[in-house]
Amino acid sequence: MAESKALTDLIKNDFVRIVPSLDYVAKAWLVTVHQIRVTCPPKGVGEPVPEGIHRDGHAYLAIHVVSRHNISSDPNKAGRSHVYTRRQDGSGAMELDKVIEEGEALFLNDSTVLHCVSGFVPENQEESAHRDVIIIDFDVVDHHAACS
Ligand SMILES: [Fe+2]
Repeated sequence: MAESKALTDLIKNDFVRIVPSLDYVAKAWLVTVHQIRVTCPPKGVGEPVPEGIHRDGHAYLAIHVVSRHNISSDPNKAGRSHVYTRRQDGSGAMELDKVIEEGEALFLNDSTVLHCVSGFVPENQEESAHRDVIIIDFDVVDHHAACS
């Protein structure tokens, strides 16, 4: 198994930003890391979230935008992140509408909000574009399920 001090530091930093401090040691945590690249062909549209408004099904999320290559500078065509509060009927009210820039991150309590990212197009339409993210999920481990 490969080890990365940078990734370990990122996970620790995210953990203390997101998880309520009383839960640091009171609960056992499962941390999952994935990387996702959404590509967009020349003159095309990149769709980071084809399923639309959703939750990922985790307790907490840290979504790090690590690269935005050749993505439009027009904010309406640049992949805007949207965060919604959840209502009883399942609908949501928009709380955030922002392009998360390269080097920025979005921290979410996934059990209380919904999220989405709009499509993006290339700045230079003759070349492809892509958006790279690293997503870190934090979940409480259910000891009873793990041991049965
Ligand atoms: Fe998601």
